[in-house]
Amino acid sequence: MRIAVIGGDGIGPEVIAEAIKVLRAAVTDGSVETTSYDFGAQRYLRTGEILPASAMAELAAHDAILLGAVGEPRVPSGVLERGLVLRTRFEFDQYVNLRPVRLFPGVGSPLTAVAPIDALVVREGTEGAYIEAGGILRKGSPAEIAMQESINTAFGVGRIVRQAFGYAAVRPRRKLTLVHKTNVLAHAGDLWRRTFEATAAEFPAVTTDYCHVDAALMYMVTQPDLFDVIVTDNLFGDLVTALGAAIAGGIGLAASASISPERTGPSTFEPVHGSAPDIAGKQKADPTAAILSAAMLCDHLGMSAEAARIEQAVAEDLLERQGEWAARSTAEVGDDIAERVAG
Ligand code: IPM
Ligand code: MN
Repeated sequence: MRIAVIGGDGIGPEVIAEAIKVLRAAVTDGSVETTSYDFGAQRYLRTGEILPASAMAELAAHDAILLGAVGEPRVPSGVLERGLVLRTRFEFDQYVNLRPVRLFPGVGSPLTAVAPIDALVVREGTEGAYIEAGGILRKGSPAEIAMQESINTAFGVGRIVRQAFGYAAVRPRRKLTLVHKTNVLAHAGDLWRRTFEATAAEFPAVTTDYCHVDAALMYMVTQPDLFDVIVTDNLFGDLVTALGAAIAGGIGLAASASISPERTGPSTFEPVHGSAPDIAGKQKADPTAAILSAAMLCDHLGMSAEAARIEQAVAEDLLERQGEWAARSTAEVGDDIAERVAG
């Protein structure tokens, strides 16, 4: 297991240290090899470059990337997001952005009255509104035109929808909901809907449903158990998973994987949360999202027993903390979970 570690900025390095601690407790045969990279705001401010020329080739020589978070106030918003997070998703063809929305027992949520919540969002990661298609004309003039196009290809939609059916087919409920806005985004929506229906014919055991994204966000709050697996585009997926994190215990618990299923490049595992500069270096961040992301990493590399042990240890820790994790430091939470994993 050759893992490229990009701790990044703010709380990133703190939570990633705990994820690696837990990973080493789960994978005991000494096969976890890590290489640390200092990419992020500090390096950018020092050198003016986001990724050195050799970076992509070096990262590509690893089995997976474990990413903390990037960004800090002195770097203009968007520079590191596009230059590092999105660049690796695009160039390594990490088209499956996988985000569980699962409320663990014992975890508080604004929605405890309507729980259980156990969904999996399969977000397209390489197309849609995210790929900087478009441009600006007549910049700065009153007649300025800004075009931000959403690109949806039969290839890209086809492969993410197929992946989502695959995930739905092996879950107990076997239900897949397409989330889009086909009534208004009629061109893209038509491609998504036709692709979804054609693929459904190949997966007769999976129950299918469709939901407009605005309604889906409301149902996530009022009836979250409507959802099992959700498949959606890049931008809708960003929004749906942000709400998902908020209803399932907060971003301190939300894990994420950007997967390159054909392994044309390494996949990236990262908590959904950002770098939280306000609490950086204080050992106040909850490392659970990073630890659960490490469990997804194990799963991806064929170590499903190790992944299950990490998840189980997290579940036990969450049940015991009863919302009181803040009494422990980031490292203490990592120690406690690692201890449970080691048994
Ligand atoms: C996320 C983040 C990213 C996204 C940003 C950092 C580009 O919000 O992983 O959800 O929008 O995908
Ligand atoms: Mn987001």
